[in-house]
This record gives sequence, C-alpha cells and structure tokens, in this order.
Amino acid sequence: MPDYQLAPSILSANFARLGEEVDNVIASGADIVHFDVMDNHYVPNLTIGPLVCEALRNHGVSAPIDVHLMVKPVDRIIPDFASAGASYITFHPEAADHLDRSLSLIRDCGCLAGLVFNPATPLSFLDHVLDKVDMILLMSVNPGFGGQSFIPSTLGKLQQVRQIIDRSGLKIRLEVDGGVKVDNIAEIAAAGADTFVAGSGIFGFASDSDNNRYDSIVAKMRGALDTVGTV
Ligand code: DX5
Ligand code: ZN
Repeated sequence: MPDYQLAPSILSANFARLGEEVDNVIASGADIVHFDVMDNHYVPNLTIGPLVCEALRNHGVSAPIDVHLMVKPVDRIIPDFASAGASYITFHPEAADHLDRSLSLIRDCGCLAGLVFNPATPLSFLDHVLDKVDMILLMSVNPGFGGQSFIPSTLGKLQQVRQIIDRSGLKIRLEVDGGVKVDNIAEIAAAGADTFVAGSGIFGFASDSDNNRYDSIVAKMRGALDTVGTV
C-alpha cells in the first residue's frame, strides 16, 4: 500500500481561527498543511502570503507545509516562503519564465520542489526537469477557488504521471488538488495519486460533537483509501 498522505487545503478553513483549525485537522489525522497562495494576477483570487505561513510555524504547527504558489512571477517570493517555514513549494510552469532556475532555487533554499499542472497543461513541461522535482501536483479543477467539481480527465493524466514516476525510479510524490471527496478519493488513488489535497471535502465537515475536530471525515477518507486495490 502506498504511503497515502492527506493534505487539507486551509483555503476552506475558518481564517478567523486558523491556528486552531490547523491544529485540529492535524490532530484528527491529516498529514500535510496545503497552503494556497493566490495573487489576483495569475489567478483571479487573493489569499495569503509568507506572514501567515510564519504565523502558523510560530503557533507551533510542525506538520509539513505544502505551499502551492498560484502567483506570477514566482522567483521573488520563493526565499520568503522558505524563511517562513515552507516544506514544499510548488508552482505552475506557465507562471515561471525559467522553470529549471525556479526549481533549483526552491531546493537551494532548503525546500522540496514541485510543479503544478492545470487540467489543460501538457506533461511535456516535465521532460527536462524530472530530476529536479520532488512533487508533481495535478490540478483536478482550474485554479483559483475551492469548492469546484473534480474534472474526470484528471484520472487518465494521473495514470500517465504515475508511469513516468515509476519508470524514472525517482522519489516523487504525486499530488492531486481540487474536488477530492470521500466518494472519489479511492478512484483517484487507484489512478496513481499518493497525496490528496481536500479543502471543502474536509473543512466542510467539522463536527460539533467532536469539538470542531475532523476525526470522522479524516477517518472516512482513510477508510476509502484502505479499499484501494481490494475491489
Ligand atoms: C484551488 C486550490 C485548491 C482548493 C481545493 O485553486 O488550489 O487547493 O483549495 O479546494 P476543494 O478541495 O474545495 O476543491
Ligand atoms: Zn492548492
């Protein structure tokens, strides 16, 4: 069984009590904090920057923080996120003028580097940089907003990337982002993903009886992942 990791997207968390939300979702069994950075330029929405990442670290968050840059240009902000405590930094190839340079910059700053593919972005961007990538993130929605529906053609694209990774022998995580829910996560895993971003699919399900924790939704996702390969 692959080492499946759940990465709640804090885009759907309650920002008025973000530290507590992140503590709760990690205590409920999630693995990675997915941190969506939007600039109202590369995507038509505006979110959070390095100050908030640093605030989470200062609050005591020790889980990996997966910074998904939806910004253009990318290089200026990479060292700031590294200093703010990012673990992974991923960006979109369309937003970078020099892919190889941006990937190297992320690693030189001490972080893990990743490339993000929009639904219509070709995988050929991987051709000459695979050895500089620690994570490949396939968007299963168009970037900019939480709460959209999973685009089914992502499944075939995941299978293609899974083959590329396995043939390379490199240690690269395959993450999927957008519209991931309890009822489709097993199918997405079967297509080859090992890291699952879920925003509305997790933060929409705090339970009062759980003291605003996410134990039951995280357990349901883990339960669905346990069925992969057995049906
Ligand atoms: C969209 C973001 C996603 C978003 C996912 O641009 O990259 O991380 O938060 O939200 P859901 O899981 O609600 O589709
Ligand atoms: Zn994201």
